[in-house]
Order: sequence, then C-alpha cells, then structure tokens
Amino acid sequence: MLDILHKDHKNIVKLLNFLRETLVAIRDEQPVPYRTLNDALIYLSEVPDMYHHPREDMIYAYYSRYRSQQPTGENITSVLEQQHLQLVHDGESLREQVSMVLMDAVVPLDEMASNLESFVNLQQSHLDYEEGVVFPQLKHALTEDDWRNIEQSWNSKIEDDPLFGRTVAEQYQELAERLNLV
Ligand SMILES: [Fe+2]
Ligand SMILES: [Fe+2]
Repeated sequence: MLDILHKDHKNIVKLLNFLRETLVAIRDEQPVPYRTLNDALIYLSEVPDMYHHPREDMIYAYYSRYRSQQPTGENITSVLEQQHLQLVHDGESLREQVSMVLMDAVVPLDEMASNLESFVNLQQSHLDYEEGVVFPQLKHALTEDDWRNIEQSWNSKIEDDPLFGRTVAEQYQELAERLNLV
C-alpha cells in the first residue's frame, strides 16, 4: 500500500521537475509551454485530490485513531489534511493566473513565477514530510492486520489515474508526451 503511495509521489516529482523547468523558462524569458503548464496544474489540483489524498487521509486517520502514541490534537492527520487543502487551494489560484496568460490577459510574470516557485516548494516539502516522517512512522506502527483492514476499505474506492494509469485520458495526452510517458 505504501508502495503505491510512493509510486504516486515519484509521479508527482516528475510533474514538479517539469514545473521547475517551466519556472526557469519564465525567468529566462524563454518560450513557456503555457498550455502544458496549465494541464500539469489541472492534474495536480484535481487528480491527487481524487485518488492520492483520500487514500493517505484514510491511512493517517486509521493510524491516528488506533496506533498513534501521541495525545489527541497533536496527530499528523490534521496537519496533513490541512496541507492537502492548502496544496489544492494554491494550485487552483496558480492555475487561474496561467489561464489568464492563455487568454492573453496581462499577468505580471515575476509574480506568477514566484507563485509557481512557492507552489513547487510547498509540494516538495509536503512530499518530503510524508516520505521522511510519516511513512516511516506508519511502517513502524501498522501491523499486517492493520494494512488488511485499510486495504478493505480502500478497494471499494480504487479507480484509474488519468495520466499515470493504464490509459492516458484525452485531456492529458500532450502532458504525457511532454513527460515521455507515451
Ligand atoms: Fe499527501
Ligand atoms: Fe502524498
């Protein structure tokens, strides 16, 4: 189960690397693939929230409820749920700016670049926190029975990822090509 989440993280890192390249292009006044940037932001603000975050939230909630040694109120669940909300919120406002560029509106590029940079940093620090702090705690605390329980409630929710799943959705074809996935 953690392997799947870890794989999702590796996929998210691919997108973050693309966002970093785009950031360099904006700052160097090189051509910027705004349409693909927009697709990447759509993906990041919609898909992890449908597929990835709910799984994590479910595992964290289980852990906090049954296995955490910390007193209530200091659990990782509320921190992480908050971070997930923040990621979606920041991703959406960034995407609004990018779609304004696509509609030829005047958008201060340095402001957009710094928003993009903060968004990439926020995503990265969230991933680092999960990989470096949360996952090791889960690995340590959850037993095979726990994982079986979690998996049972999870199975009913599994759906396929529209970018990194078995088939790439029409909407993400260009992005997939850009990331060399197809
Ligand atoms: Fe997360
Ligand atoms: Fe995650």
